Amino acid sequence: MPFYSEDLIEEIRSRNDIVDVISSYVKLQRKGNTHFGLCPFHNEKTPSFSVSGNKQMYYCFGCGAGGNVITFLMDYENHTFQEALEQLAERAGIELPKREVTLKERMRADKKARILEMNKEAARYFYAQLRMEQGKHAMNYLTGRQLTAETMQKFGLGYSNKFSDDLYRYLKQQGYEDELLKESGLVTIDEKRGGYDKFWNRAMFPIMDANSRVIGFGGRVMGEGEPKYLNSPETLVFDKSRNLYGLNFARASRKPQILLCEGYMDVIALHQAGFDNAVASLGTAFTPGHANLLKRYTREVYLTFDSDGAGVRAALRAIPILKEAGLTAKVVDMQPYKDPDEFIKALGTEAYQERIDNAQNSFLFEISVLERDYNLEDPESKTAFYNEIALRLLEFGEELERNNYIEAVAVRYQMGFDNLRKLVNRMAAKGAAPGERKPLKTGVHENKKPEDAREMSQRLLLTWLIENHSLFARISAYIGPEDFTEEPYASTARILFQQYNEGEVNPAKIVSMFPDEEQQKKIASLFHANISGIETKQDREKALKETVVRIKENSIEYRQKHMEPTDLEGLQKLVEDKRRLQELRKLHISID
Ligand code: UTP
Ligand code: MN
Repeated sequence: MPFYSEDLIEEIRSRNDIVDVISSYVKLQRKGNTHFGLCPFHNEKTPSFSVSGNKQMYYCFGCGAGGNVITFLMDYENHTFQEALEQLAERAGIELPKREVTLKERMRADKKARILEMNKEAARYFYAQLRMEQGKHAMNYLTGRQLTAETMQKFGLGYSNKFSDDLYRYLKQQGYEDELLKESGLVTIDEKRGGYDKFWNRAMFPIMDANSRVIGFGGRVMGEGEPKYLNSPETLVFDKSRNLYGLNFARASRKPQILLCEGYMDVIALHQAGFDNAVASLGTAFTPGHANLLKRYTREVYLTFDSDGAGVRAALRAIPILKEAGLTAKVVDMQPYKDPDEFIKALGTEAYQERIDNAQNSFLFEISVLERDYNLEDPESKTAFYNEIALRLLEFGEELERNNYIEAVAVRYQMGFDNLRKLVNRMAAKGAAPGERKPLKTGVHENKKPEDAREMSQRLLLTWLIENHSLFARISAYIGPEDFTEEPYASTARILFQQYNEGEVNPAKIVSMFPDEEQQKKIASLFHANISGIETKQDREKALKETVVRIKENSIEYRQKHMEPTDLEGLQKLVEDKRRLQELRKLHISID
């Protein structure tokens, strides 16, 4: 665990009541021992997000998000473990020991600050140039694109003039040394010829991070020319996969969704038209880093990418990334226009708002793109298309949700709800897994490996043990923590058994004992795995018994494989365990 001791972490966690903390983010309603609200991690209309004061844990039955107060802040605020702890410590008035800052860290931080300062200086320089005599041509260009003075000011637009080294000389004058200038990406320094500006004779778009600090630039040629945009390279302060153009404004928007577009000009045109929730990636593809960034500010992203083939492909690539991050995606149709900038110029703000209101659900968008590969006039091709749709519909695990999609697709292609549902069910019965579907031509494949039976039984038993305290006494004679062979369940079992033996079960504490975020999530979901899905008590008892037996069998098999032949003690234990297993098979384990 970084920097802080386990005890301190536990103190911070236990002094921040999870119901209090989450209440400040989510409206919760009390029902018995549990509080319910609308899940902040996915879009929903009826509350399936639960917070338990007893367990000091939260869990969403809709999307599976879950954890303790620390992981909540990590998820909600996109904090690191460290940052979440710091926020909670402050909230509880706990002083954290100062951590040692190394010389290297300090120098890096200083350098970052200096590059940011220099970027700001450069942005000011470009800004001033645009408004001088030598910037007239650029000013005409931007005005010609119907940008108002107010918009140009808001986005800090500027101009890099025709001299090839004036910015270099200006920044030198301000006291920035060559070493740092090189690292800023604003100039290149040639041994013989000295410093050269990266940008010249371009309209300049400063790129700002979410806190409005200038981290880089895009420069557009005025008129035709290659490349159309030149962008700053990545630097200490400029990470293209973790920043979005326009986010510094969009984060403060009161609109419920974020509009994601392709270009700088689209963002600017949208903001000028009053859509203050528009952002764009920075001349690179949309990444999971971007999705996580957006997740801090919204639950819903509307894609308003170019209408051409490249734009559609980019949208198809972005959709699974957004979904993976737990965001809902919709697609705005701008036909017959190419991009938001052109659309608004042609049809105006209201027409664009209408397109937003009619944005298409991302699944239906994917289907309609797919449709283009088939000929619906041809019976064979049509059948293949329907089969492909049915296969994709299998991806919706929730029956209600799946039926809603079946209905939407059935209406759209006039195929009858029951017919389509039967087709989907036949696919399911054939054992077609959604993973087997042909990937859309996006290059993105989800390859989640299914949980194997061993992992599942170990996970399930832990869930039972946490849910049902009396169970521990009944099964601890047969099963010990050493019978859990899969991580992170083995470690969880060790801690949980120890907590039981010490008479205090504390699931929220277990979660924060794992340093790794992925593991924390796995453990958190343990404490809420769905066992209530099994209906009768009799069935539950049967399932429990089978689970216990399976774990024991696996543990015996594992040891047989891995034991040293000279390990007499181990051998004895193995023989003893095999005998116990026979006993266990005959035993009735009751749940009450
Ligand atoms: P577009 O070519 O669609 O540009 O590229 P645009 O933003 O609509 O600008 P205008 O309206 O033609 O002036 C979309 C984005 O791709 C990146 C830029 O981020 C641009 O905003 N891009 C494009 C580059 O980085 N370099 C290029 O040469 C072209
Ligand atoms: Mn464009």
